[in-house]
Amino acid sequence: MKGLFNKRNQKIKEMTTVSFNIDETIPQHIAIIMDGNGRWAKNKFMPRIAGHKEGMNTVKKVTKRASQIGVKVLSLYAFSTENWKRPDDEVNFLMQLPVDFFDTFVPELMEQNIKVQVIGFIDQLPKHTQESVEQAISVTERNTGMVLNFALNYGGRSELLEASKALAKKVKAGEIDVEDITESLFEESLMTCDLKEYQNVDLMIRTSGEERISNFMLWQNAYSEFYFSQVLWPDFNEQALEQAIGVYQKRHRRFGGL
Ligand code: FPP
Repeated sequence: MKGLFNKRNQKIKEMTTVSFNIDETIPQHIAIIMDGNGRWAKNKFMPRIAGHKEGMNTVKKVTKRASQIGVKVLSLYAFSTENWKRPDDEVNFLMQLPVDFFDTFVPELMEQNIKVQVIGFIDQLPKHTQESVEQAISVTERNTGMVLNFALNYGGRSELLEASKALAKKVKAGEIDVEDITESLFEESLMTCDLKEYQNVDLMIRTSGEERISNFMLWQNAYSEFYFSQVLWPDFNEQALEQAIGVYQKRHRRFGGL
């Protein structure tokens, strides 16, 4: 049976297409919670890891399309600080995925001028995962196009705690005064500081019908527009991304004003 299925394995009605425009209203920073790999696999009577493997192919498609239409930063939640609670086999598979991804996709990243960056507690990842990530960062370092920002072993609350501790230490050492702690100084202490003017998220997408933030980029999502897609991540594709962008372009962002 062909078609797209939601989390209850019900066929989703074909999407009504919302047109999108490639112009200055394209969201500069898109963040995605790539959810639904396990359910996708279950629906097909396959092991959960088959969903993650297919999810990796979706990452390739979406990355390429986002770069082509002029997105500046694409942040992808690949592994949270809470994901260690999953069975060992699944965790091991998820730790191998970045290796497989970069082994097969770096030539395209170079072709597309895409730069890889990572947020998260990378030093706690297995050695082979760390090495692969570090190599991808270094090979793509001089690329000047879209930043593909992977969140690996990332948690928003831990990020905020670490930033607070770093600033508290600076105050204690007499390097800054408490009054110097502004939003912009705080942002300089976050894991996303290298993203500079694109640090804050414009459009945050979550797939699979779940409507939660799950500890993802809590500071950076303060004023983002949320888009929840019913599609399970392995079925998400270029058209689904364009649909999300089209919906975003029709919203009126007020940032607390009128
Ligand atoms: C959530 O779906 C998905 C994850 C925890 C892993 C995300 C990883 C990928 C999409 C693979 C791409 C990664 C790289 C590094 C290229 P879930 O397993 O919670 O799904 P479920 O809610 O249906 O069980």
